[in-house]
Amino acid sequence: VLSTALCSVLSIEVPIVQAAIWPATSPQLVAAVGEAGAIGSLGAVFGSADQLRAEIAAVRDLTERPFIVNHVIPQLDPPAFEATLEERPAAISFALGDPGDLVARAHDVGIKVIHQVHHVDQARAAADLGVDAIIAQGAEAGGQGMLAGVGALALIPQVVDAVAPTPVIAAGGIADGRGLAAALILGAAGVNVGTRFLASNEASAHAAWKQQIVGARSEDAVRFEAWVRMFPPAPAPAYPVVPRVLGTEFVERWQSQAGNERSRIEDARVALQQAIARRSTHELLPFTGQSAGLIDDVLPAAEIVRRMVSEAHSALTQAALSATPGLRLDAH
Ligand SMILES: Cc1cc2nc3c(=O)[nH]c(=O)nc-3n(C[C@H](O)[C@H](O)[C@H](O)COP(=O)(O)O)c2cc1C
Repeated sequence: VLSTALCSVLSIEVPIVQAAIWPATSPQLVAAVGEAGAIGSLGAVFGSADQLRAEIAAVRDLTERPFIVNHVIPQLDPPAFEATLEERPAAISFALGDPGDLVARAHDVGIKVIHQVHHVDQARAAADLGVDAIIAQGAEAGGQGMLAGVGALALIPQVVDAVAPTPVIAAGGIADGRGLAAALILGAAGVNVGTRFLASNEASAHAAWKQQIVGARSEDAVRFEAWVRMFPPAPAPAYPVVPRVLGTEFVERWQSQAGNERSRIEDARVALQQAIARRSTHELLPFTGQSAGLIDDVLPAAEIVRRMVSEAHSALTQAALSATPGLRLDAH
């Protein structure tokens, strides 16, 4: 048992959140994670209300466990958000902008709210809105991060201090039980894990992308700075972000040259929009975090949860033993 305040908030057994990793959050993944005692997130960023309702129904056909629906503020689709309110998942998670009165709208119908932040000030603002948990996402993470990123080791304890007693969920670079144990020691109440679950059997990520993650080193997951030229930041309450991605021909072309000629940027934007519509973004920009270097295999999602919990137990026990004078690790 590895129960924390987050487990009470979400009615789950182990404090692991399968992150919103669009387009890989299949109902099968969300259900498998839930059945394993953790909680999965359905990514709603580019889905219509009808698609989202169908995915929620598919999760409910597979499990009675709680799950999260994720909405991204700059891309928020009001009908899809309304559909989420009507469907009453256990929680809604928001990211990449101030959720404002959306928090109260979720609370009014009994849905818990989780908000993802990158900086301490954003965490304080989220706590002031009364969210139920805050994801502190370190710059190691896959997917979108702020241009001025902060590593998880520095960020998490600061957020924990700033928003106590709101539970903090650590994100970025966590792919095994040692990462979970470290997050708990930093004061977090759980972890939000993206890249590790991309390389799971149930994830609806292309097989080639999963293999690319298995083969990648941490230093292969780079920040794609050209993104802001293709998609200028949405106005406040959104803010400028760039994705962390593995290399492709598209990435190399854009990282290695200025490439600021207007028509070519327009071509790149159109190519990315088409890839989003086809759910094949991995061909151009395989969003992936630095934890790829820790991932050597594609596993069933339940096995990822089980291993993380048992490794965290071992890591916490070892840390306690090695920090206790007079106790010798080799005696155990
Ligand atoms: C492929 C991919 C897609 C993502 N899409 C979303 C998203 O739609 N909404 C969101 O809030 N976060 C998104 N994220 C960020 C994750 O929720 C999470 O914070 C991150 O993956 C954690 O870091 P890790 O990849 O090191 O585990 C995405 C991450 C990845 C890798």
